[in-house]
Parts: sequence; structure tokens; C-alpha cells
Amino acid sequence: MCGIVGYIGSKDSSSIVLSGLKRLEYRGYDSYGFCFIDKGKASIFKRVGKIDNTEKEFLENNFKGNVCLAHDRWATTGLVTEENAHPHSDCKNEVFIVHNGIVENYKELKEKLIKEGHNFKSETDTEVIAHLIEKYYIGKLEDAVKNALKDVRGTYGLVVISTREPDKMVVARMSSPLIIGVGEEEFLVASDPSAIINMTRQIINLDDGEIAVLKKDSIKIYKEEKESQKNIETIDWDIEQAEKGGYEHFMLKEIMEEPITIEDAMRGRLLEEEGLVKLGGLDSVEKDLRKINNLFLIGCGTAHYACRVGKYMLEEYADIPTEVDVGSEFRYRKASIKNNSASIFISQSGETADTLSCLRENKEKGILTLGITNVVGSSQSRETDAGIYTRSGPEIAVASTKAFLGQLTILSLITVYLGRQRNMSVVMGKRIVSELKKIPALAQKILDNKEEIKKIAEKYKDYKNFWFIGRKYNYPIALEGALKLKEVSYVHAEGVAGGELKHGPLALVDENFPTIAICPSDSVYEKMISNIEEIKARKGKVIAIATEGNEEIKKIADDVIYIPKTLEMLTPLISVIPLHLFAYYFSNILERDIDKPKNLAKSVTVE
Ligand code: F6R
Repeated sequence: MCGIVGYIGSKDSSSIVLSGLKRLEYRGYDSYGFCFIDKGKASIFKRVGKIDNTEKEFLENNFKGNVCLAHDRWATTGLVTEENAHPHSDCKNEVFIVHNGIVENYKELKEKLIKEGHNFKSETDTEVIAHLIEKYYIGKLEDAVKNALKDVRGTYGLVVISTREPDKMVVARMSSPLIIGVGEEEFLVASDPSAIINMTRQIINLDDGEIAVLKKDSIKIYKEEKESQKNIETIDWDIEQAEKGGYEHFMLKEIMEEPITIEDAMRGRLLEEEGLVKLGGLDSVEKDLRKINNLFLIGCGTAHYACRVGKYMLEEYADIPTEVDVGSEFRYRKASIKNNSASIFISQSGETADTLSCLRENKEKGILTLGITNVVGSSQSRETDAGIYTRSGPEIAVASTKAFLGQLTILSLITVYLGRQRNMSVVMGKRIVSELKKIPALAQKILDNKEEIKKIAEKYKDYKNFWFIGRKYNYPIALEGALKLKEVSYVHAEGVAGGELKHGPLALVDENFPTIAICPSDSVYEKMISNIEEIKARKGKVIAIATEGNEEIKKIADDVIYIPKTLEMLTPLISVIPLHLFAYYFSNILERDIDKPKNLAKSVTVE
């Protein structure tokens, strides 16, 4: 979840890597560092905290070099200190590395290296790789890296440079994303394309086990001693998409992109006349999917809540028993895996370690694995048997918003796809497809009302606790609303099924503990009204998310946010939007660091 950027070429690398690293800060941001090699001499700059705080000092150093490495750190092994910030080096300060991932056997390696006379400067697992390279560095840097990695057990996205061969950069990947950007007589390396997209859109995706040797005018990629022939791919989104586009925060920008996200996820996939859905990513497993009689949906955090919505959709409309798990728990239970089970993994980044480990376990068990992923070329998208991209574009804010909408849209599409393979009628298929087509406009209508939601956030800004309640399709939305509020505002919020209130949570309800009740006019509306009355009877304040035209609700709720009418199954796609906006405005009023909440990282690549 840390960020890597590197440069080799004729240009002065300082501004290139600085701007790249700043764009990667969402991946991890407790400390950062650079290493420049100029005329065979290395200069290192490391600081704790965000780049903005010490950028002036960095610029005053006027670092020069045609080869450079940089890294944003989100601590996993070792405290947040300058010593632990990357790049790390060997004893002689000749070898410099940046690393994403985890060296599982670092303790035993470190002990052995210390016995062999190596001196360590940090507490990190990464530093052992620098010393291993030093140990094996007899001829070429790439050979030393290859030999060092033979000793390492774990995951790595690794970039190495050395003062002994200052015209070279060695890059290696194992289960931690790394791409190489191809320029004119220059190469860039990054853990994420957004770091280098201002320099080039031509990229090479490194695969697990590959090592690349870069010079300013040549690139060679090896896997197990053999040279690999790799294609150069073109990134089809541009720098503006990865920048704030005039909004104060990425989170708001991304919420405002929710309608287009839904539209992009559906684009070219709806066959309205036939009431069918076309998902090219599932073509290769179309026949297998006809036989599936139970499904596992697995994801973490917000993606897990998408799974929970998916369960209601798939069970009600595709008639497939569906179990839902968080990635970090699935392995601990004895899931009833049958011959015709399939699992669907949902992840924005496609790099979430908890989700990936379940995916790998399910593959070992021979279960058909499918992915719903945003990041093209991510580990999840490459390791699943088949899958569908959400096409949500880069999501930069740590809190996931638009990607959730992409996931819900794809789940609706899969429901029609699998439903029509089974008993779903053409009429029902057509109905869902035609309602789906209207959703982007309905979502936009809610966004157009954002000032009203802002006013409500202002009104409730002094409250320190919130309940979020919902039932059926909107129970997971209550969970998502609470997660979003707590992670961005640091205010306590809990999601609970409306029916569960009376089994305990009601004890906390009073005039200081407001509830956001998601109560569209659907099959559970009456039951939700009973829950709202239970709250009102205990002097609790209620903000209702209700369907347009429902005037009655105003009589019991303190505040009402209206959403347009749609099919019950599709309400989550619109009912969540006011909750995303509420979390955003509430947190902005409290002046929180909205795009980079404390203690969190965008892509959680450790278990
Ligand atoms: C919450 C949030 C996280 C992620 C979770 C999974 O706003 O962003 O809960 O949803 O870490 O991440 P992905 O979808 O990348 O697997």
C-alpha cells in the first residue's frame, strides 16, 4: 500500500519523481524518501509526515541525478521514523532500494546477515533485501538482485539502483504491483500509473517473478533466466481524471462522478430488447456458470457491503443461494463448497491482500473464481478465472465511493445475466435492464440536491454518535453509510438492521444519538416506520432517506432527504449517494483530512 516511483533517463529526475510521488501519497503517507545518483554519487532525502510539510526543504537541496528512486511509506514493519523510511541501503551505501510488500522471513535473514557482519540502520523488513544484494553483488546488479530474491520469502515490488552501475535500474515484482512507463530515451517505474501518466501513457505491466533491467535507452525483462517479450500497453485515461477537477477534495469529485460511473459500468452491456446482459469477461465461463448452484461473494470494507447487496439481488432474482464473507474471515470457516460452487471477489484495487488470499485458496480448492475489479491488470483481475471490470476510473480518495457504485452496477448486471440463464422471465429481464438505464439520471438528481444535504450535515455537526438503519437491500447501505461517516469524520457511527434496534441498540438512543433511517417506499417500508417510531418514542432525532412524494414521513422524521423511485433491487444504487454526500460534508465542516484519513491507506496489501 506504499507508493513507488522511479526514473532513469537524460532529464533531471527531481521534479519528475517529486510530482509522481505526490500523486501516490494516497497509497501511504506516514513518511517518504528519495535517492538520486549523480556522477556516481548518491544523495538521500527522507522525512516523516506528508510531502507538503517538507517540500520546501527538499527543493532547497536542489537534488540532481538522471537516476532516482522515491517512496511513500505506510508503516507495516518498524515505527514511523526517518530511519525506517525508504530508500534503504547496504552497509557501504552503494545499493539503494525501495520496496512494497512484506519479507516474511526477514527476522531469520537479518540474524544471519548480522552474523556475517552486516550493519542494519532500520527496523524494516525491506533493509534485508539491500544487504542480501550487497552480499551477492559480485558482477552485475541484476544477478545480485536475482540471487537475493531467491532467499526472500514474501511479496515485493522492488526497485534497485547502485552507485557501482549508475546507468542502470533493476525492477522486480512478486504479488505487489509495478509498472514500467516507456518514454523517449527514458523509463519510469511506478506502483500505480497515476504517478507517471503526465510523462507517458505507454506502459509495461510487470508480472510476478519478472525482473527488468532498465538503462535509459534499453529494457530487458527476464523470468527464470529466460528473456520475456512484453507488450507495451496504452493507458486510456488521462491526468485530469486523476486530478481533482476543480473540487476541493477527491472524495467530492468521486461522489460527483457516481452517475457516470454507473453509466460506464453498463456501457455496451445492456440488451434492452431481449432483457439480457452481455458480459464479455464471462464468455469463457458462460457454460460453467449455467451449472452453478451456490455462490460465495467475498470482499473487504465497502466492497464487502457491495457483496451483501449482491446477495439480496442474486437470491431474489437469480435464485442462487449466496453466501457472503469478509476476505479476512472466509478461511476460518468450513464453507459448504459443492461441485458447482463459484466465488465472486469484489475489489476496487484488485490488490487487497485479504481478498487475494481467499481467491488463491478458492483456486486451490478448484472453485470457479470470478472478479469484479476496477484496476485493470491488478492481481485480482489476472488471477481470477474470469471477471468484469467496473471501469470506474482512478479512485484517489482513501474512502471508496464511486467504486462502490461501479460494484453495485456490475452486481445488478450479473444478477440479470445469471437470472436469465435460469428462471428469470424476459419481462423481468427487460424491466431490470430498462430501470438500470434510468439510474444515472436518478443519481444525478440526488447530486443536484447536494446543497440540501450539506445543510443537514451542518445542522448535525455537533453530534458525536450516529445510528444508520435499513432493512433488506438497504441494510448493507446502512453499514456503508456508517463506515463512510466514521472513517472520514472520526465520529462514532454504527450501521444496524432496523429490526435489530429493539434487541439492544435502542438502549443508546436519546436526544444526543441521531439516526439516519433509509426507508424508501419498498417492501419493508412499514417495518422501517415502526423502527423510526421506536426511536422517536425515545427522543431520538431521525434523518429519513425516503422516496420522493412521501409527505407522510415528514410528520415523524426530523429531516428528510428524498431519493427518486426505482425498482427495490436497484434502490441501493441511489440511496447510498446521500450518505456519501452526508459523510463528505459532515467531515468537511469538521475540517478533517478527507482524502487521507488518519491510520488508513487506499489499497491494503497486507493481511
Ligand atoms: C472504505 C474503503 C475500504 C475498501 C477496502 C477494500 O471506504 O475504501 O473499506 O473498500 O479496503 O478495498 P478494495 O476494494 O480495493 O479491495
